[in-house]
Amino acid sequence: MPQQGFARLRRWQSFDPANEQPIRAWIPRPLVWLSRDFVRTFDDLANGRARWPLLMFGGPGTGKTTCGLAACDRVWPLYWPMPELLQHQQMIKARSKRGEYYPDDPWPGIIEAPFAVLDEIGSRGMNTELEFETLLQFMEERNRHNRVAIYITNLHPTDLERVFDARIADRLTCGTILEFKGDSKR
Ligand SMILES: Nc1ncnc2c1ncn2[C@@H]1O[C@H](COP(=O)(O)OP(=O)(O)OP(=O)(O)O)[C@@H](O)[C@H]1O
Ligand SMILES: [Mg+2]
Repeated sequence: MPQQGFARLRRWQSFDPANEQPIRAWIPRPLVWLSRDFVRTFDDLANGRARWPLLMFGGPGTGKTTCGLAACDRVWPLYWPMPELLQHQQMIKARSKRGEYYPDDPWPGIIEAPFAVLDEIGSRGMNTELEFETLLQFMEERNRHNRVAIYITNLHPTDLERVFDARIADRLTCGTILEFKGDSKR
């Protein structure tokens, strides 16, 4: 398990985003206090007391992305919203049909980053073959290289099999599951 980057996570109940060098700094993170459940869960994961991957689900605005980014700010990070990753996938496919190389290939990073967050899984309610394929490939590459990940979705875990299929649902739910409850914080 690639645990070395996680030592820093033990002291992050409170932090000042202004003093950090955040990944994707243009995505706002107004929080000072992180969800206690998330901190506890992440601490268990980082210290081997809970099983990876972490699946975070809940309604819009409940703080899932904020927590995922906060975790990214503290380890060697990789953060992808699914729609953005799918745009790269489309470009890779289009270029490879023409026998061309695509310089912004995200896959080496997906394979190498010790810690990764994949956000907005199934977010548009129209799950294309491309999303299906990409999600499976993402999870397979992380597993094959023994890399941990957080997966974030609005979908309830019991809906994953219907929306995707049993293989994807099984991979997403085989570790630790954390629900984000309550009203939107937006
Ligand atoms: N811990 C927090 N403290 C203060 N504000 C927060 C916190 N978490 C979230 N927010 C506020 O709520 C907004 C929405 O949070 P976030 O984007 O993390 O939700 P989400 O669960 O990812 O929503 P969606 O499912 O729509 O993507 C943030 O931009 C921020 O303004
Ligand atoms: Mg979000």
